[in-house]
Amino acid sequence: MFSLKSKIILITGGAGLLGSRMVKIIQKQGGIPIIFDNDQKKINELKKKNEKTINTVYCYKVDITKKNQIKKTVNSISKKFKKIDCLINNAGFNPKLGSKKNRFENFSLKQWEKEIEIGLTGSLLVTQEVVKKMIKQNNGNIINISSDLGVIAPNQFLYEKNDKKPISYSVVKHGIIGFSKYLATYLAEHNIRSNVLCPGGISNNQPKKFVKKIKKLIPLQRMAKINDYDGIILYLCSDYSSYMTGSTIICDGGRSTW
Ligand SMILES: NC(=O)c1ccc[n+]([C@@H]2O[C@H](COP(=O)([O-])OP(=O)(O)OC[C@H]3O[C@@H](n4cnc5c(N)ncnc54)[C@H](O)[C@@H]3O)[C@@H](O)[C@H]2O)c1
Repeated sequence: MFSLKSKIILITGGAGLLGSRMVKIIQKQGGIPIIFDNDQKKINELKKKNEKTINTVYCYKVDITKKNQIKKTVNSISKKFKKIDCLINNAGFNPKLGSKKNRFENFSLKQWEKEIEIGLTGSLLVTQEVVKKMIKQNNGNIINISSDLGVIAPNQFLYEKNDKKPISYSVVKHGIIGFSKYLATYLAEHNIRSNVLCPGGISNNQPKKFVKKIKKLIPLQRMAKINDYDGIILYLCSDYSSYMTGSTIICDGGRSTW
């Protein structure tokens, strides 16, 4: 249904948990996924998994906080594929839990800057370069990955005293929504759309105690399965969403509803 035939789709953080799932479903629908990731080990694992698929996944080791690396790579992709249809700003910093250092009163400026740099500045730098190409094409589609924690605060009862979600996560994820809305209005005249997906937490071997508690916060009483976002990702990447821009799609099992 959601054909992505020959669509060139750039995914930042494409070697991670959600990114590698996007690669798989985009390939399945005939799209051509290109990933930017700075973790060579994860890139190698992704390539290995994709050895047998018909369409190749094009992997680039790029640090999205480094302007020169981004510029060079976006230029060479644009030369090779002649277009970039879609950009998915998915890369994010996965905060290490279980550290006193994440408590607000202890949170270091260094860590704050690092997380903002990956989550917000990285999206800015990649989008700036890609948008230059999209403006020339007079066509483009940007999908920004936020979180349920982009629209609600972390429920502090979910976390142990020294195991808090850092404030940077809330700031980045709320910020991504503003970033996306700004782009939607700024780029509309160039026929470039921008939307946000706010996924809820994906089940991924989290401690049993945590899962038991988080389930109680979710009306559907479970964490997301990795394939729960397939339909939304394909919809947003495809022309079926052609009249959608500036939107925030929340898919969180209902967590943010009550
Ligand atoms: N997993 C979840 O439960 C969940 C829930 C809500 C939102 N999200 C959001 O979804 C997105 C993907 O999350 P995930 O769970 O797949 O995380 P992940 O850690 O598995 O993947 C993130 C990827 O980004 C890459 N990355 C980090 N810094 C980078 C940099 N400077 N340059 C290039 N690549 C970089 C990492 O190497 C990694 O492959 C994130 O934005 C996250 O906040 C995830």
